[in-house]
Amino acid sequence: MSYETSSFAERLKADALAVETLLSTLLDPDPFPDEIARPGTLISAMRHGVLNGGKRLRPFLVAESTALFGGDMDAALRIGAALECVHCYSLVHDDLPAMDNDELRRGQPTVHVAFDEATAILAGDSLLTFAFDIIAAPETPLSDRQKTALVLALARASGHGGMAGGQALDLAAEREAPDEAGIVTLQAMKTGALIRFGCEAGAIIADAGADDRQRLRSFGEKIGLAFQLADDLLDVTADVEVMGKATGKDAARGKGTLVALHGQKWAEHELQRLVVEAEELLAAYGSRSAVLVETARFIAKRRN
Ligand code: IPE
Ligand code: IPE
Ligand code: MG
Ligand code: MG
Ligand code: MG
Repeated sequence: MSYETSSFAERLKADALAVETLLSTLLDPDPFPDEIARPGTLISAMRHGVLNGGKRLRPFLVAESTALFGGDMDAALRIGAALECVHCYSLVHDDLPAMDNDELRRGQPTVHVAFDEATAILAGDSLLTFAFDIIAAPETPLSDRQKTALVLALARASGHGGMAGGQALDLAAEREAPDEAGIVTLQAMKTGALIRFGCEAGAIIADAGADDRQRLRSFGEKIGLAFQLADDLLDVTADVEVMGKATGKDAARGKGTLVALHGQKWAEHELQRLVVEAEELLAAYGSRSAVLVETARFIAKRRN
């Protein structure tokens, strides 16, 4: 069966396999040209943090948003791999004792447990840097203009005004509970920004127009909020075996979440509302956006 005609689940699986194969090659123990050496323990820790399962949802968003506009799928795969490196770095650091202090991730010991804290910090640093290497590298079949646009968008999504800034707000919220608007901002940053980049990236890769790029950004914002709301609900409702990470820890740590503020029923309703709004944003594309619509629904229905 060809990729184009396969179902949502098959496409998600096929894309995850492709991105994992590429990431395994990119995280080779042998250095690239212009690198000096790749220390064995560091590269093993990076591989542990990246090649350990995971839904690979963010690379999938890059692939499907690129497919929507008929862009180059090899480029989408590499940009997806770059985004997954930033995501995995964010998880490695999120699990550190100074942050969420978690010992289980994707059903395995977290990087600082399997190695040590210093190695986990450096593995995260290296993965973040490597993401921009992957985008800029000559093997990425895009123009310099497109690469610059992707570097800029990913930098803005990842740094102090995006994911890392959101993580700072998340930690501050453990000390002083934010109001609803504060929680929404925090979540749009810590989780939404990378998901939004995944959606917007396809428009850049395919050289789509400004309106299309803006529509995909808005879609990414909606499903980004939905994604973290689902994560916060699962922290209450799911168990550790299915999640592959500890649950019940948000309440224990006094994390600022909408589930804590408004309760589970409200959150479930809000999740549905966000997904419907996300779907409506793509209505202009008709059946061409079927897989992205399915992805929005998957975010709300997911069990891990
Ligand atoms: C977990 O992200 C961290 C959040 C932003 C909530 P995912 O649920 O996508 O984690 P993996 O990549 O599938 O392990
Ligand atoms: C993680 O949020 C967000 C980032 C890693 C940027 P959480 O702390 O809720 O993620 P989990 O539950 O540990 O995966
Ligand atoms: Mg956290
Ligand atoms: Mg965490
Ligand atoms: Mg969580």
